[in-house]
Amino acid sequence: MSFTRRAFCTGLAAVPLTRPAWAQAEAPRLTARTATIQLAPEGYPATEVWSYDGLLPGPQIRAQQGSRLSRRLVNDLQVPTSVHWHGIRIDNAMDGVAGLTQEPVPPGASFDYAFDLPDAGTYWYHAHTNSMEQVARGLSGALIVEENAPPDVDRDEVLMLDDWLLDPETGGFAGDFEAPMMRSHAGRMGNLTGINGRFDFSLEAQQNERLRLRLINAANARIFVLRLEGMTGWTVALDGMPLAQPEPVSAEIILAPAQRVDLIVDVTAEEGTPAALLSYADDDSWQALAEVTVSGLKSAAPRAAPAPLPPNPRMQVPGVAEAELREMRMEGGAMRGMASGRFEGQDMDFQQLVQRGQFWALAGQVGRGEAPFARYARGETARIRLVNDTVFPHAMHLHGMHFRTVAADGSLGPMRDTVLVMPQESAEIAFVADNPGKWLLHCHMLGHAASGMTNWIEVA
Ligand code: C2O
Ligand code: CU
Repeated sequence: MSFTRRAFCTGLAAVPLTRPAWAQAEAPRLTARTATIQLAPEGYPATEVWSYDGLLPGPQIRAQQGSRLSRRLVNDLQVPTSVHWHGIRIDNAMDGVAGLTQEPVPPGASFDYAFDLPDAGTYWYHAHTNSMEQVARGLSGALIVEENAPPDVDRDEVLMLDDWLLDPETGGFAGDFEAPMMRSHAGRMGNLTGINGRFDFSLEAQQNERLRLRLINAANARIFVLRLEGMTGWTVALDGMPLAQPEPVSAEIILAPAQRVDLIVDVTAEEGTPAALLSYADDDSWQALAEVTVSGLKSAAPRAAPAPLPPNPRMQVPGVAEAELREMRMEGGAMRGMASGRFEGQDMDFQQLVQRGQFWALAGQVGRGEAPFARYARGETARIRLVNDTVFPHAMHLHGMHFRTVAADGSLGPMRDTVLVMPQESAEIAFVADNPGKWLLHCHMLGHAASGMTNWIEVA
């Protein structure tokens, strides 16, 4: 006798409801492929990009905190690729780092990602195989993990800030991705900035409307300096993690590559008066990166200040004072260089490194070495001082765990996954090494990461 579907289901009802592996539906696809997108203003040629699902930015992924996310990456590009889920405290095998946590996915092949989402917040995903070029060509998208009790706002808007270096004649990506000039300086800066793939991004809103703005800096190297016009706002989360108390936005918002900020803003401008997200431009002027067109009135009076977002789990970092302090010196780059560094198992002077297209070192190591920068026992509190001995700012990102900055007086800052370290300054970070595996610690100016500024730690 063969099972009918009905009999089969009935039979299973008596056993615990764990789904056998073969019963799992195929995960939704995320296809890396080329696409043609009008990035430059009308009148200029369109751009051939590398995209997820033909979109730039890639499709916005939304999921509930505590749920499990799965995606089948299908590689329809001509080059190998992989996906990193930036900021997710993820299972190491799903972290997407080619050569460290997985083999890159060859053209025509696929890879199944599936992982739990322990934290609510604003995250993003991007290529992590030759990311310098792949992210610049368009392989990134937003990953939003919703709170089970979301804040009281009228609308939730995701704004992916980016820049593109385009050739105005052809519309194609300009320049050489390996260009030493960019790698040894501030990185690959675009000649066109925009939001959600549009240089002229705009929003419509009503006076006294309350918006949650989730800003994500997906640029290769650009540090956005932002201001609100015609809106008052509060910062409620950084790099996905809620602040204990919303902080009024009183000064510029500095958003380094890979960083996120969640704002709750009230539109204060009256109909017909300007409102915008302003960005400090290369020509020293303030320009509207997002124009907000105000029409009508949402409510007669502005609302009271917002409540904090619900905290995520595991946000405490105990034992910082007793933790062993390790120093990671950042060296190299134009105007400064370095005496020597270790590259592919050999000690080399700066000249030898430059000949190999390498310009930077983290703790004397140029690029990912055989041995990690540090090994931590699972659950140990880690403390690292990042010392910037270069003349450029660097946005240092830790995979797999969020950290807190440690101020000179020992007090702890907000929980983040990417910290901007200014030239000749240092930043101290501390975190509980509670996620086992091999985790990158690298500069998110992706040209720097590709030319030396990539190291890693191991939690066992
Ligand atoms: Cu967002 Cu190692 O990267
Ligand atoms: Cu850097």
